[in-house]
Amino acid sequence: MSNITKADPITGYLHPAIAPYPRLRFHDIDDEWRVLLDAENVFWALGKRDASPTSLLGSILPLYNQNQPILDPEIDHFRNKLDLSAVYINPTDKCNGRCPYCYIPQEVRENGVNMRPGDLATVLAKIEEYNKSNTAAAGRKPVIVFHGSEPLLVKRDMFKAIENYHDRMLFGIQTNATRLNEADVRFLIKNRVSVGLSLDSVSAEENRKIRPIHGVEDAHASVMQALEWFDGYPGLNVITTITASNVHELPRMIRLLHEKKVSVSLLNPVRCTAPGTESLRPGNQELLHYFKQAVDTALELTKSSGRKLVISNFANTILAITAPTARRLMCDITPCGAARRFFAVMADGTSVPCGEFIGLTDFHGPNLVEESVEQALTADSFKDVRSRVVEEITECSQCLYRNICGAPCPAEVYAQSGDLNTVPAYCGFYKELINYAFRLIAEGKTNDLLQDQVYNSMEEVYVLT
Ligand SMILES: C[S@@+](CC[C@H](N)C(=O)[O-])C[C@H]1O[C@@H](n2cnc3c(N)ncnc32)[C@H](O)[C@@H]1O
Ligand code: SF4
Ligand code: SF4
Repeated sequence: MSNITKADPITGYLHPAIAPYPRLRFHDIDDEWRVLLDAENVFWALGKRDASPTSLLGSILPLYNQNQPILDPEIDHFRNKLDLSAVYINPTDKCNGRCPYCYIPQEVRENGVNMRPGDLATVLAKIEEYNKSNTAAAGRKPVIVFHGSEPLLVKRDMFKAIENYHDRMLFGIQTNATRLNEADVRFLIKNRVSVGLSLDSVSAEENRKIRPIHGVEDAHASVMQALEWFDGYPGLNVITTITASNVHELPRMIRLLHEKKVSVSLLNPVRCTAPGTESLRPGNQELLHYFKQAVDTALELTKSSGRKLVISNFANTILAITAPTARRLMCDITPCGAARRFFAVMADGTSVPCGEFIGLTDFHGPNLVEESVEQALTADSFKDVRSRVVEEITECSQCLYRNICGAPCPAEVYAQSGDLNTVPAYCGFYKELINYAFRLIAEGKTNDLLQDQVYNSMEEVYVLT
């Protein structure tokens, strides 16, 4: 399977009836359906391909005329506002994991420092201060995600911070689970902490190959035990990082997670940000095949059991189409969320636009122990990341899916090409997956693909049946 980037943007086709509307194009998403789409504001309508295009247009064009002036500024604001809502803090740079694909350089994971408790308090106080003084953020609790490296290596300091701030901030933790015990789980549930666990294989042996641990612990056994302790906790999600070696397992992974009462899964294709990791990338066709099977499996299990399992990154694609400004993950819009909606802080206080830039020192920003949140957000490297827009990437600028796909990820493309404005290697996967998302929307499956609280909070702006 080829891993070579072959950018082939979706340009769509014209029809005389839409000639007065220069931004509208038709595109055939598969053998059965076609979409009419305005790439700029993601206005769309679906119709059967065996019907004449003009049969759709009579009712759609008045709706388009009416909604374009509302949708244009809305998406423009969504794309361009600098609205910090979360900060990822690595309370230690160290990790006991030796995952070969990890975007945190091994040297940092082996020899990095722990954040001093006083520095953690300083950083949290600065974030709180920024939120109070910033009008966009006023009234919202800051979201702090303890990330890493492996945050549970310094759980005492981290849990103390959570205890001190739990009524003023919302907390999350991302962990390999090897240092988690039952009392920790009770503490996290009591403090309503969102928890992400990492699991790459249904098989302990395979997981050991992809997520080896330095020392006696076993990441697979730890995650399986943690899933029992969490016992369907709604704040839990499980991340599977997809590589060439586990791509075929995705449907089985979804079955396992559903059986363990997990309600949110993330299936993230590996980002080849670290040198020498390109061989781990799954081929686009294989990735698409098993990812779609995983989505179908989640739908089937949701239907047969009445208990939802949502694949959160696919749900974000569904949202990018059905409610573009309501999407939660910020990888599939440009500028992406890095340095705009969130940033990350390393254990020595160094700020980075997103954790994926930790190994790319050109993008490191000011030290947040000494400088302010404002100084980090206005650093040149942060501005550079915010300047990456699909309009500046030759292939994407012509693509109908540019504001659904977002051409992620800046750290990965920069690591590979030395240029932020290049097209990602997953282009072929993204566009086919978006075609599939349109198909499932056409089949009326939107509700089953989104978390209940997301679906129920959506407002109808335009609808055509
Ligand atoms: C960097 S780790 C930090 C927290 C913790 N050590 C863990 O493994 O969950 C967070 C998540 O990023 C994922 N990850 C690491 N390197 C990645 C890469 N190059 N591409 C995609 N995901 C990656 C990991 O699999 C894990 O799910
Ligand atoms: S456990 Fe997490 S931080 Fe550690 S090497 Fe694996 S992915 Fe990286
Ligand atoms: S916007 Fe996405 S699908 Fe379109 S050309 Fe760019 S990477 Fe490919």
